[in-house]
Amino acid sequence: MRIKSAEFVMSNSRVDLCPESKLPEYAFIGRSNVGKSSLINMLTGRKALAKTSARPGKTQLINHFLINKNWHLVDLPGYGYAKVSKSAKRTFQKFITAYFEKRKQMVCAFVLIDSRHEPQPIDMEFMQWLGENNVPFCIIFTKADKMKPKALERNINFYQEKMLESWEEMPEFFISSATSKLGQDEILDYIEAINIELNSSDSPR
Ligand code: GTP
Ligand code: MG
Repeated sequence: MRIKSAEFVMSNSRVDLCPESKLPEYAFIGRSNVGKSSLINMLTGRKALAKTSARPGKTQLINHFLINKNWHLVDLPGYGYAKVSKSAKRTFQKFITAYFEKRKQMVCAFVLIDSRHEPQPIDMEFMQWLGENNVPFCIIFTKADKMKPKALERNINFYQEKMLESWEEMPEFFISSATSKLGQDEILDYIEAINIELNSSDSPR
């Protein structure tokens, strides 16, 4: 898919105030600092569409971007940011889960996982929750440029083994780098295929 236009629509802390449009949307979620906002900029070819930072906790709201005037891309805050107080964490968890429970336009979540790390309980638990709530999702392994090819392959194989301990099959997954643009075509083509399918069936989810 070619990106012809990418516009910021709005930021929100409440799912009921998100855009009313019925356009299909794709949400990017994962631990703080995993590279959600950077990936959105890479995918859209816009340097500063989504705000990024080396410090975790940059994205605090639900951010909608309108792409090619016919679908939404959503940048979400990261989970598991240690410096946030317990009550702030709880409030945050609530608004993230409310987003996934209530947002019927959300056709696929991309769960971002840092390709350098071993499987983390917080990500496993989050994917478990998505599964239990019938939220369709894929995995994107990020920051591949920071790994040597062999080590990257080893980590991803290990991740698949871990997933298969609790999942019948491995969800669709992609490997990405915001610096080398690895994964750009694959992820955009995947989104395009879903958009085409939705257009032909004309029903959400
Ligand atoms: P929060 O909004 O805080 O949850 O973080 P985020 O997941 O949106 O991460 P963000 O995109 O802001 O990136 C965090 C840091 O990682 C920044 O310093 C980025 O430059 C860096 N980064 C993100 N993706 C990549 C990547 O693919 N390769 C490399 N080398 N650095 C990356
Ligand atoms: Mg962010």
